[in-house]
Amino acid sequence: MNGLFDVAVVGATGAVGKEMISILQERDFPVRDIYPLASPRSAGSEIEFRGKTRTVTRLDEFDFSKTQIALFSAGGSVSAEYAPKAGKAGCVVIDNSSHFRYEPDIPLVVPEVNAYTLDLHTKRNIIANPNCSTIQMVVALYPLHVAAGIERINVATYQSVSGTGGKAIDALERQTADLMNGRPVEPSVYPKQIAFNALPHIDVFMDNGYTKEEMKMVWETRKIMGDDSILVNPTAVRIPVFYGHSEAVHIETAKKLGVDEAREILRAAPGVVVMDEREDGGYPTAAIESAGSDEVFVGRIREDITHPKGLNLWIVSDNLRKGAALNSVQIAEILAKTHLSAAA
Ligand code: A2P
Repeated sequence: MNGLFDVAVVGATGAVGKEMISILQERDFPVRDIYPLASPRSAGSEIEFRGKTRTVTRLDEFDFSKTQIALFSAGGSVSAEYAPKAGKAGCVVIDNSSHFRYEPDIPLVVPEVNAYTLDLHTKRNIIANPNCSTIQMVVALYPLHVAAGIERINVATYQSVSGTGGKAIDALERQTADLMNGRPVEPSVYPKQIAFNALPHIDVFMDNGYTKEEMKMVWETRKIMGDDSILVNPTAVRIPVFYGHSEAVHIETAKKLGVDEAREILRAAPGVVVMDEREDGGYPTAAIESAGSDEVFVGRIREDITHPKGLNLWIVSDNLRKGAALNSVQIAEILAKTHLSAAA
């Protein structure tokens, strides 16, 4: 690394922001000073960083020229307003919202796949962190794409509530307790009860009948893999799991990919763990394997009995870590090594 950096975390009190702060510590990111930022609601609250207490301050009063790197995770409208200001002040923003992801002069980066596009960040000093469901899918699929050319992806997601943020974690806890105690459930955060349920609805509905979460998987997979011809057909579902997203993925490739070859490729792939025993419990799950882990876990690899060049996979990862905070910190690590000058 090139010395030490001053780092702002925007949305430091949120589900992803807290994870960003803990991953910066875990990975010993070269931080000189950290600035936890949030709205006036939680300004004055405190966080711990490397054994010292830091006070959360207001984003709207912060001077980004004090920092070289800012990790944003406070929603699209906050990023829309403050990320360009930070960028103009000379601070490189790694933005977890979807606001800038589809702009051609903004790199959308998963380090295992397209770290080379980071050079583009100097145009606006903003780098977009992709959607959680897309990140874990492309980490596993990109090496298969390189080997066999993925033409089409059918995917159904099983997404945890932490992807919606802290309020959704509280809502699932409350609804579960209410139901277990015979009390009526008041739906909150989601339009229907999430406890003991599955909602085929994440983000807003689009004109074509897909939801925005589903279309994010279409747009982002193509941009990250650098191939606009890949067809992606997603259904995104919210389920009552706290941490970790799961995905049932069916791919169709140009060249036939057998199960053994796919397993070998995935075993050698960066960031991937293959867990694929054809027996009870021989597969990865959100709550047990992925929650709290960095890797993307792949199991249930099998040939599609209905398609000559089809392969099925089950892909699981911690949505707050690889799906959000960890991916952002990995991008920051590359910047710190190769692109940025340290604090004066
Ligand atoms: P705050 O605690 O002040 O509301 P989550 O995704 O878990 O819901 O968290 C959202 C994060 O984004 C929180 O840290 C929240 O701070 C922050 N946030 C939301 N709106 C704003 C805003 N207008 N300015 C700064 N931070 C914001």
